[in-house]
Amino acid sequence: MDLPPEFVARMQNLLGEESADFLATYQQPPTVGLRVNTLKLTPQRFEALSPFSLQPIPWAPAGFLVPPDERPGKHVYHTAGLYYLQDPSAMAVAALTSPRPGERVLDLAAAPGGKATHLAALMQGRGLLVANDLHPRRVHTLARNLERWGATNAVVLNETPDRLAAHFGAYFDRVVVDAPCSGEGMFRKDPQARREWSPTLVLSCARRQDAILHQAARLVRPGGLLVYATCTFAPQENEGTLARFLEAHPDYELESPPLQPGFAPARPEWVDAAAPSLASAVRLWPHRAPGEGHFIALLRRSTETEAPSPSLPPQAVTLPREVQKHWHAFAAQVLAALPDEERIGLFGSRLYRLPPHCPSLRGLRVIHWGWWLGTARKNRFEPAHALAMGKPLEQFRRHLALARDDPRLGRFLRGEVISAEGAEGWLMLAVDGFPLGWGKRVGARIKPHLPRWLRQFE
Ligand SMILES: C[S@@+](CC[C@H](N)C(=O)[O-])C[C@H]1O[C@@H](n2cnc3c(N)ncnc32)[C@H](O)[C@@H]1O
Repeated sequence: MDLPPEFVARMQNLLGEESADFLATYQQPPTVGLRVNTLKLTPQRFEALSPFSLQPIPWAPAGFLVPPDERPGKHVYHTAGLYYLQDPSAMAVAALTSPRPGERVLDLAAAPGGKATHLAALMQGRGLLVANDLHPRRVHTLARNLERWGATNAVVLNETPDRLAAHFGAYFDRVVVDAPCSGEGMFRKDPQARREWSPTLVLSCARRQDAILHQAARLVRPGGLLVYATCTFAPQENEGTLARFLEAHPDYELESPPLQPGFAPARPEWVDAAAPSLASAVRLWPHRAPGEGHFIALLRRSTETEAPSPSLPPQAVTLPREVQKHWHAFAAQVLAALPDEERIGLFGSRLYRLPPHCPSLRGLRVIHWGWWLGTARKNRFEPAHALAMGKPLEQFRRHLALARDDPRLGRFLRGEVISAEGAEGWLMLAVDGFPLGWGKRVGARIKPHLPRWLRQFE
């Protein structure tokens, strides 16, 4: 593999003898990690169902290594949101963030959703998860991944960090900044990351991280946690960014996470004028632990800080009577129970159930206001894929449960009509007991109603 010569020289200089083991990892195939969706099933149940060979990852109780030739991304269980494919070292970020159910959590740079789906699972559907990304296209990938994941308490935003800080103030218990970085940990997987890398890129990423973290710092409540992570090895980012941050933000202190096998301390000696306490941040190295490599720092905001306490009114919702009538008619026929009415509202033509205590999002660029239930059409309600994915199968009155080797599954996912007798109208198709998507039955024919992005299944 062709690595940028300046990168190789720098790593040899920093790591000395150890650099041979580090650089040898670039001759090996990238690791594939699979994280089980604990919103839908336990890791034990997944292990019993799984067609893949799974090897546990020490720092992520729902994470496993999978042989890449088993192609888990192509499996129907992936389509059903039973797992997310994620670099094993990246799984350490949400694991160390360790959000509690009921908290307010912001993932500031969240697309495509690796950390956000993990945070959602750890929050168990309770509290508020705000998943934001600045990029106008990538934010939609994030939204889809959260839909498939069945996250029912997530708001998706497409905002700049400064506008978020101005809007929310010191609102969040935990803020994750999985920062845009020079991506040296992507070199094995992504030839473009190798081509685009340069020493100038490293410096511009470091500057960008300073700016993002400066805004992120405003969003953490007194006593709350700011998590800074990258997938690069460059000390001008990582330890350098951290040193500059701590210098400029005396109301933050580094916290030492519980060390796991494979975690290594950060290297303060690699940057000028850095305090030894920087060693409390964590480096995951590809030659020491499974995965592509990560840097993670936990920054605790002082309880003494004089952050202005935010006064955000709750987000108002309205549900026009006509829309409510169609929604009720649909729900009575198809769902076992009606979701909590109080927080259901119409935004444009879409019906959402907001997360509990959702603050006003007025003035922000909102992609999803919470759990997308469906769309109000003229004289009818059309259910959303997110509604399908956010409930267990037993909460759908009407469903067609297929086994994973049933040939009708592939046809359904390609958008083709399939045959099965039963009551007319909306029903849920399921694979091995897990919801997969909506179908509408007319006579004995079921027409799939899947979002276009899901239909690429082979
Ligand atoms: C390393 S990626 C995040 C990966 C993601 N957390 C995950 O686990 O799937 C960094 C993200 O930061 C976004 N980004 C870049 N500049 C940003 C900014 N100023 N504010 C918010 N997001 C930004 C990029 O669009 C990109 O999606």
